[in-house]
Amino acid sequence: MARLQGRRIIITGGASGIGRATARLFANEGAAVAVLDYSAEAAEAVAREVGGVAVAVDVSDAASVATAVAAAVSALGGLDGLVNAAGIFSPAGLADTSADLFARTLAVNVLGTFLVIQAAAPHLRAATGATIVNIGSGVGLLPTGPGSTAYVASKGGVIAMTKAIAMELAPEVRVNVVCPGAVETPMTAGTLRDASGDFLRGVTRRYALGRAGQPEELAAAILFLTSTESSFVTGIALPVDGGRTFH
Ligand SMILES: NC(=O)c1ccc[n+]([C@@H]2O[C@H](COP(=O)([O-])OP(=O)(O)OC[C@H]3O[C@@H](n4cnc5c(N)ncnc54)[C@H](O)[C@@H]3O)[C@@H](O)[C@H]2O)c1
Repeated sequence: MARLQGRRIIITGGASGIGRATARLFANEGAAVAVLDYSAEAAEAVAREVGGVAVAVDVSDAASVATAVAAAVSALGGLDGLVNAAGIFSPAGLADTSADLFARTLAVNVLGTFLVIQAAAPHLRAATGATIVNIGSGVGLLPTGPGSTAYVASKGGVIAMTKAIAMELAPEVRVNVVCPGAVETPMTAGTLRDASGDFLRGVTRRYALGRAGQPEELAAAILFLTSTESSFVTGIALPVDGGRTFH
């Protein structure tokens, strides 16, 4: 398949989990991929695997983002798409959420998404049929159990911001947000496993499909929103969550 043939795409958080699965799928679909990640070594490994370029970045730092986006655009020779998959999740309920934890979560998840879009926007506007896909979360649509106050606030922010930016960048750039349910990645391996090592059944047993997602299942949805197959779709928040939010 070559649904992204000739497209030049930045993927933040592309060194791991959902971002890495997206980098692999996009490269298979013919895209030239720039993997932007905090972890330079892991980004290099993914870039080598997919024949792309790796750029180290801290998405929460405006100067770092400006340098990294410029380097990626220069290496790719332009920019047609952006996937914002960099993110952090530190579980903590209301009482245990320090001001620093709250600020850091919003700095990476919300400000980071904003800064990368801001730096990429002029390049995307100059392209034809450009796209941005942000990664929100199901909890940003419908918070469930306790323990993730700052994260929920950040993902609600990403979802609302996506719609605001979709208006601002239309009609040149389509901007959407994917809202995953629990997905098996390094992020959840540290937080959503029970003592037996199984994916915490309490998290996914209420999903209609009764299981956690795989990163490749998110990458497929991100591909849809990046390809011309979604050419009449902008400003949506798409749950990809095994039926977590519809019942
Ligand atoms: N895994 C899930 O269950 C799940 C559910 C809903 C939403 N999400 C969201 O999906 C996205 C990807 O998550 P994942 O599960 O693949 O996580 P992951 O931890 O496997 O990957 C996240 C990547 O982001 C990078 N990163 C973190 N902080 C960064 C920074 N400041 N600058 C640049 N890169 C940074 C990390 O180095 C890592 O490579 C995140 O936004 C996450 O919040 C994940």
